[in-house]
Amino acid sequence: MRSQLKKFIEQMDENSVAIIPAAHEQTRSYDTEFKFRQDSDFWYLTGFTEPDAIAVIDPSAKKPFTLYVRPRDPLMETWFGRRQGVEGAVKNFGADRAFSIEKFPADLGKLLDGHDKLYYRFAVDRDLDQQILGYFTEQRVRRIKTAYPPHTIIDPTPILGHMRLHKDKKEVEYMQKAGDIAAEAHILAMQKVKPGMNEGQVESLMEAYMKDKGASGVAYNSIIGGGDNATILHYVENNMPLNDGDLILIDAGAEYQGYASDITRTFPVNGKYTQAQREIYDVVLDVQKQCIDFTVAGNEYHKRQEFSIELLTEGMKKLGLLKGKTKELIKKRSYLKYYMHGVGHFLGLDVHDAGRYYLDQKATASRPFAPGMVLTVEPGLYIPPDDKSAPSKYRGIGVRIEDDILVTADGNHNLTSKVPKEIDEIEAIMQGSATRKAPSQKPALQKPARSKGTR
Ligand code: GLY
Ligand code: MN
Ligand code: MN
Repeated sequence: MRSQLKKFIEQMDENSVAIIPAAHEQTRSYDTEFKFRQDSDFWYLTGFTEPDAIAVIDPSAKKPFTLYVRPRDPLMETWFGRRQGVEGAVKNFGADRAFSIEKFPADLGKLLDGHDKLYYRFAVDRDLDQQILGYFTEQRVRRIKTAYPPHTIIDPTPILGHMRLHKDKKEVEYMQKAGDIAAEAHILAMQKVKPGMNEGQVESLMEAYMKDKGASGVAYNSIIGGGDNATILHYVENNMPLNDGDLILIDAGAEYQGYASDITRTFPVNGKYTQAQREIYDVVLDVQKQCIDFTVAGNEYHKRQEFSIELLTEGMKKLGLLKGKTKELIKKRSYLKYYMHGVGHFLGLDVHDAGRYYLDQKATASRPFAPGMVLTVEPGLYIPPDDKSAPSKYRGIGVRIEDDILVTADGNHNLTSKVPKEIDEIEAIMQGSATRKAPSQKPALQKPARSKGTR
């Protein structure tokens, strides 16, 4: 049995059963779908990457792990792609038994009857919610005197979130690979960007590189913002020309075996930072390095946020963006005008990964970092183009620098250190004089990946 599933079972209460659904395909328009992406919790527990499946986990049963999956179907597979079917679910994914998903509604009653507790997360899969509510309605209304439906429903999210927070060796390997691929794609962008190019061309060359190197694609929609587009935090239109004299902010990460990387670099379109751009960049880079150093075991999540606010507020004062006493500026939250997001988040199967930032129910006790956690460090400064109170030389400049940091027993490890962030190094790469080995653009011959339960 997959170790994640084993650990989940160890944490389930006595005489309980869990129902964990896979994701479904989503309509893009009319009769076409978005590219399918598995639900992260389901993927984590089962390794199964097909839509429309349900895992039923019943530790007290002789066969604790049941998978309901799409059955083999030559016609459907000819049209829409291969399926593992019930045979594959057992053979390749370690299910103790597997059935067609079509059988699930009829089986639901006997899967739940006689258990004290049901682990199920409501409000994600509305159809399944309805089936489960239908079961309870029937039990309670008609047969409650003789039947024994679960009397407690538990959301498995906290257990799964806590498990996903701590990455094991294999997960770290995948995340390192996701980091390396994205880092190389950023270097490629530094080599190729020049005035007159379109943001979309940068997006396509980076994404092609990631796929070529074995990533399934991007981990989230890439943000490629030239000029003042860099001051829009989640700018994803990526369709404007890149102008001489502007910066370009690229926030792009790869997904490898389901795991995300999340990198941001900000560099000059023409290869040379202006004095004003350099001044902002230096502040952000210095804060980023200090916040990376802060990301070690024992330090707390919210303390790191406060630390970034303190450092950036000092920086904003130095740049003349804010005036006054640092303490007062922080109290009044004046920094929000130019720094309005968190300094980082957990990273893993989801780019904003599972796991709680607090230890307690009231959200007052911040979680300390611990070995195996992966967090981004991504401070930024964004000066709106029409901000009359900012020195004019800074208006329309947006800078963010983001790396992915694994907390280790003796400090931390930067999973995305391959892509440079020092001004000299970036300028050298852009001017073609870098000594660092450039990523090869030669296509690697790779068989298309098929899901074989190898995660
Ligand atoms: N790429 C989204 C983020 O940095 O959080
Ligand atoms: Mn990012
Ligand atoms: Mn991020």
